[in-house]
Amino acid sequence: MTLPHVISAKDFTRAQLDALFIRASEVKEHFAKNYYWTEEGKHIANPLPPTLAGRIMLSLFDQPSTRTVITFENAMELLGGRVRPFRNMTRESSLAKDEPFTDTFETASGSAGVSVIVLRHPEAGAAERAAKASSVPIINAGDGTEHPTQALIDLFTIQEALGSIEGKRVCFVGDMSARTAKSLLYALTLYQDLKIWFVSPLKLDPKSEVYEYLKHYGRLIIGVSSLIGLVESSDIIYVLRPQQENWHKDIKNPKLRDQEVAKDLKEYYGLCTVDNLILARMPKTSIVLHPRPRGPELPAEVDSDPRVLHTVQGRNGGPVRIALLEMMHSGEWQRLATPPKLK
Ligand code: CP
Repeated sequence: MTLPHVISAKDFTRAQLDALFIRASEVKEHFAKNYYWTEEGKHIANPLPPTLAGRIMLSLFDQPSTRTVITFENAMELLGGRVRPFRNMTRESSLAKDEPFTDTFETASGSAGVSVIVLRHPEAGAAERAAKASSVPIINAGDGTEHPTQALIDLFTIQEALGSIEGKRVCFVGDMSARTAKSLLYALTLYQDLKIWFVSPLKLDPKSEVYEYLKHYGRLIIGVSSLIGLVESSDIIYVLRPQQENWHKDIKNPKLRDQEVAKDLKEYYGLCTVDNLILARMPKTSIVLHPRPRGPELPAEVDSDPRVLHTVQGRNGGPVRIALLEMMHSGEWQRLATPPKLK
């Protein structure tokens, strides 16, 4: 039996995304109508049907997270299921006693009541390795390769704000080695007539496998030297944080490393900051996204501009992950899948 794992955005189909976005919109509307503040506090008129009652989600986060962990765990509980959280797995589980990764996931998934495992892990390919050993679906909540559920949130936010994704002009700004950028680029191959650009300093360009994948699906990604020339022509500006924790790892002296990183950050922010000066050039109908956490590349001065949607993006995490858990458990996600695409 093939399980409905969510490992890579390469595996998504348009049918899955279209159905998920319809359901996420319904969930969002449900919350808007039924969850509101009164003088007595938060009022819940009509909770979601407890379709996942009796199920357990293992929430294995081996790397820091705010949005992903909160929205996945809340989603499971709002659907009537239960959450078994496990943090710092590499240190706190028998992995620390050299138990093989595969045995860990065979054991975790075989535990009574567990119906899904949500995994965040720093290593490339961790989610795929876990899926090979697991007897329940694995959801990649961000590993060293990809962050596919963030791409679902990004696309849902674009569709909601602009009415469609087809035909849009997308400009990525910043560190293209980010897993969020990679997953979003893979998912964008499901949409037609896109123009995709990126502005990236310090040779933080997309990896060659990303170019190859896009090329295979007839899409191009074009590097440009400055955002200024593209602001007026972009429908979506997708801002990325610098992944400075991965920079200059070859420099062993911490002080020297910090100096090099500081130098690079100066160049990064010089080229990749989306501030009010950039927004002044942006069309009224365009939007700015950021998967967060954000830093000086998207300063707080832009937050009052209605085209800047990173807060909406963050809030869309709940409805999107509720819809995903529902579809995976009902069998709909699997029914709308197709044979695996190019890897
Ligand atoms: N966007 C995102 O994955 O945020 P967290 O790392 O806080 O989960």
